Amino acid sequence: MIPTIIVHGGAKTITDDKVAANNAGCTAAVEAGWAVLISGGTAAEAVEAATRVLEADPTFNAGLGATLNSDGEVELDAAIMEGSLSWGAIAAVQGIRHPISVARKIMDDKPRLLVARGGERFAVDCGAEMCKKEDLIAEEQWQQWKEDQEVIDRPNTIGCVALDASGVLAAGTSTGGTTKQQQGRVGDTAIVGCGLYADNKIGGCSTTGDGESIIPVVLAKTAIDFLSGDRHPDEAAQMAIDTLVSKVKGEAGCILIDRQGRIGWAYNSSHMACAYMTEGQDKVAAFTKK
Ligand code: GLY
Repeated sequence: MIPTIIVHGGAKTITDDKVAANNAGCTAAVEAGWAVLISGGTAAEAVEAATRVLEADPTFNAGLGATLNSDGEVELDAAIMEGSLSWGAIAAVQGIRHPISVARKIMDDKPRLLVARGGERFAVDCGAEMCKKEDLIAEEQWQQWKEDQEVIDRPNTIGCVALDASGVLAAGTSTGGTTKQQQGRVGDTAIVGCGLYADNKIGGCSTTGDGESIIPVVLAKTAIDFLSGDRHPDEAAQMAIDTLVSKVKGEAGCILIDRQGRIGWAYNSSHMACAYMTEGQDKVAAFTKK
């Protein structure tokens, strides 16, 4: 199987001054995941590696630089799913630098979704990189929160889908949720079928956008279902977004890889940062608009 990887940096509005940072961040994430895939690593390892890069980049609403909740805190959700239907997720956690790595650890055991203090305790126990919760607050986010500025580029998730050389798919997501969300709110990101889905027999999907709109249309599973009959992932992704638009209000996007390694993506926001790599490309392709 030809390895393939795609990441998104969120369905959002990307102002001209942020285009380069979004492209650079998504490119670096794909490069990290691609290095794993071409050295024989698994799809889940590649998704974790790529997502960690996005979590460390304050350009994106995940990890360091995530949007702040009603109490001015970074509160994070993340999930990962393998095409064998194994999955792990954490939600409403603080002081964890790379929630995606904790979500991957949870995949090994039960329970598979841990929230708040339970998720933080598990992170400590599994040796995850912990920090003071304030250490994840980026200056720009703090200023915007303090001054009650309108935030146009944060209500989103970052994510990744990868297919490895043995034909295994994985999908991941990570987010700080929505700006000034009520403490304890959890959106789609940590919820299998909504924020992400992977099935080795069909494909993998990671979504982004308004959790309250994504959850009722089960967006990731809806997109995967549209892959049936060998439909191209680009068409399936568009059909999933059209379904969301026809049923609820809200902005969303999704990225897909099918079991053959074909990629696709769609969104109804004005932009979506996105990058991908597969065999035959001499460098990562990155976009902020399709
Ligand atoms: N998609 C991120 C959220 O709604 O929490």
